[in-house]
Amino acid sequence: MRQAGRYMSEYRALRERYSLLDLCRTPELATEVTLQPVNRIEVDAAILFSDLLLPLEPMGLPFDFIKGEGPQLERPISTPGDIDALRDFEPREALGHVLEAIRLVQQELAGRVPLIGFAGAPFTLASYAIEGGHSNNFAKTKSLMYGHPDAWHRLCDRLSTMVADYLLAQIEAGVDVVQIFDSWVGMLSATDYREFVLPHTRKIFETVAGRVPTIHFGTGTATLLELLREAGGDVIGVDWRIPLDEAWKRIGTDRAVQGNLDPTLLLGPAKRLLEQTQDVLVRAGGRPGHIFNLGHGILPSTPLEHVQMLAQYVHRASRSGTAITREPWDV
Ligand code: CP3
Repeated sequence: MRQAGRYMSEYRALRERYSLLDLCRTPELATEVTLQPVNRIEVDAAILFSDLLLPLEPMGLPFDFIKGEGPQLERPISTPGDIDALRDFEPREALGHVLEAIRLVQQELAGRVPLIGFAGAPFTLASYAIEGGHSNNFAKTKSLMYGHPDAWHRLCDRLSTMVADYLLAQIEAGVDVVQIFDSWVGMLSATDYREFVLPHTRKIFETVAGRVPTIHFGTGTATLLELLREAGGDVIGVDWRIPLDEAWKRIGTDRAVQGNLDPTLLLGPAKRLLEQTQDVLVRAGGRPGHIFNLGHGILPSTPLEHVQMLAQYVHRASRSGTAITREPWDV
């Protein structure tokens, strides 16, 4: 989860020379950053270095990343008319650099670990398109959703068609798995999720199903897990706000789960980090279909050594079954 990034010195060194968008748009650089964590941490998969906002620009919503503030759109959607003005585009052309990065990464990885491609889910993408950047309460997004439901559904229909096609292009280019990020969907009630989000997210999973395994990720979803399952995904992502065994029971043990360590535990101390890691593993109970992961992205202030220690610990503990006999911090 957010494998590459500011917690790694080699990433920070590249960022001194290039903007985030330059890294995303230059296949050789995106490849280099994708491989940085694979070379330093015992991860079992690589996640493509890209950003879920990239498709907004060819749709007619240009943006930039502002230091200290995150993404900022030049002209966010503010009226239903803005939605009709959005453009359709061919991802194999407009986002050809992402597909080229996938091909380069796969050459470099040469089968060492699988490569995960990704895209944003309609709700999370729509929220950036409407808010224009970070939001605490999603007031503009929800105003459009409640006030102009037809326009909302038109927007999400455009987004889900675009995302499904973009993911198919990533699969053609060679990713082994795709993950759909609905990072902010936990802001919705179950009623709103079912009405305003589920049909659109489901369309994406139905379109890409059967080609490669799919992961459906969200945060703050403790009240939405059954609905996330209904929308689709071979694997459902779980954040740290709910115990993994409870989440898995609600999702159903016929689905795989991914999660769910709180990423702030990586800030230390090591004893608590590994105790809580063990707790996640014990709750997974050695059942097949658990992908150990963080519940959300790694924070920039995380010590790399803690990430390395965590990956090693999870591997050792999983290899020996769940019977972790010694003190978890005694690695
Ligand atoms: O290694 C990886 O995890 C793959 C790369 C990746 C990035 N963005 C690069 C990136 C992935 C999977 C994403 C997805 C993404 N982008 C999400 C969903 C995942 C999540 O965290 O929930 C979201 C919401 C975005 C949009 C986005 N990109 C925001 C809100 C920000 C600003 C965050 C901040 O803390 O400033 C970004 C910037 C971004 N994208 C960084 C990285 C590594 C930060 C690094 C930098 O500024 O150099």
